[in-house]
Amino acid sequence: MKSFKILTIIGARPQIIKAAALSRAIKNKFADKIKEVIVHTGQHYDENMSQVFFDELDIPHPNYNLSVGSGSHGKQTASMIEGIEEILLKEKPNAIVLYGDTNSTLAGAIAASKILIPVVHIEAGLRSFNKSMPEEINRIMCDHVSTLLFSPTKAGYDNLLKEGFKENNKAPYSFDNPKIYHCGDVMFDNSLYFSAIAEEKTSILETHNLQKDKFILATIHRNNNTDEPLRLNALFNSINKIANENKINFVIPLHPRTAKLLPQNLSSELYTSIKTSKFIKIIEPVSFLEMIALEKNANLIMTDSGGVQKEAFFFKKPCIIFRSETEWIELVNCGSAIITDADETKIVDAYNHFSKTDNLQFPSLFGEGAAAEFICDQILKYIH
Ligand code: UD1
Ligand code: UDP
Repeated sequence: MKSFKILTIIGARPQIIKAAALSRAIKNKFADKIKEVIVHTGQHYDENMSQVFFDELDIPHPNYNLSVGSGSHGKQTASMIEGIEEILLKEKPNAIVLYGDTNSTLAGAIAASKILIPVVHIEAGLRSFNKSMPEEINRIMCDHVSTLLFSPTKAGYDNLLKEGFKENNKAPYSFDNPKIYHCGDVMFDNSLYFSAIAEEKTSILETHNLQKDKFILATIHRNNNTDEPLRLNALFNSINKIANENKINFVIPLHPRTAKLLPQNLSSELYTSIKTSKFIKIIEPVSFLEMIALEKNANLIMTDSGGVQKEAFFFKKPCIIFRSETEWIELVNCGSAIITDADETKIVDAYNHFSKTDNLQFPSLFGEGAAAEFICDQILKYIH
């Protein structure tokens, strides 16, 4: 008997992927107890930023799609809030489940908390301590109206304590008396689950003529990197330099945001050089299984993505982080990732460092691959 209803909000690519873990746990272990209603805000809408993941990861088709599309923060978030509120009033779920830190997360948090629907935040507590990132605002605001907060890392859990969350609150929990957890990471669940089939089911390496350990995987999409020409030029200059000097291939599945800004924000000389480089392959965004196949076979990963940083770690690859800080500080602390920002010298130095280092440490930091089941269990236990 499914008397308990959760309403899951997804919108951006990583949220669709993250939601796969919970939907799978519900299907396998909680099918008789939890009914999941999925709302896609439509924040990401290109076929290869959205539909591909439903097709490949066996995620139930969304029950609603708000189709909000792209827009300024205010416009996009406002239209999501309006749509989500309407659905919440109609569906009357026991809880709303929100992932990460996008505008879709924030919209869900505002819509639900104002009409007293408990918020479950998965990936709570992560902080960059840089409020010029839109994601930092989104995650702080979401955490502070949540009832159950699941942090995938100890650092995230500690951040919550520093912001005044208590570890000894007693049930019944509410947004005024929330429960915080340090549990595993649903993305680790997914990486373990899909890793086994990624290479078998995809031919991305053959398609792009890539050989194991003989290429670097790079992604760039963070707004300060794409929108600031100086930074974007520095990043692509570094990539071009490393590729040419070391005769190593790069494969760069490019986010549509970056693809749109590349011709306008790169110098015409660098743009031509990148486009005609025999070492640099700029490709369309790939599916999650293709991405895993690339991550598992890359020699090194360079990225400004939160999810890709972590996946580099899951697959025991060194990672160069194109940001000035990271929420996943554990990766840097154990030496397997280096923060270089968009600084050419630091990027080249980090590449040279990793080229000479072969005893990197990848301790078990993200659970045992069963975070989603734990989360379902706790939701059922504590939300009524
Ligand atoms: C969003 C999230 C970011 C997350 C990223 C994951 C916010 C504030 N940012 O950033 O935290 O890391 O998703 O990928 O929520 N576009 C398309 N097709 C699409 C989607 C986007 O062309 O399917 C283009 C549009 O020009 C759009 C731009 O990308 O304006 C940015 O999209 P948006 O969703 O606003 O932000 P992201 O940079 O994707
Ligand atoms: N990803 C993907 N195809 C791509 C690029 C990324 O499937 O072409 C996956 C990646 O493996 C990770 C997630 O998308 O699971 C990360 O999303 P993104 O980098 O867009 O956002 P972030 O994690 O920074 O919020």
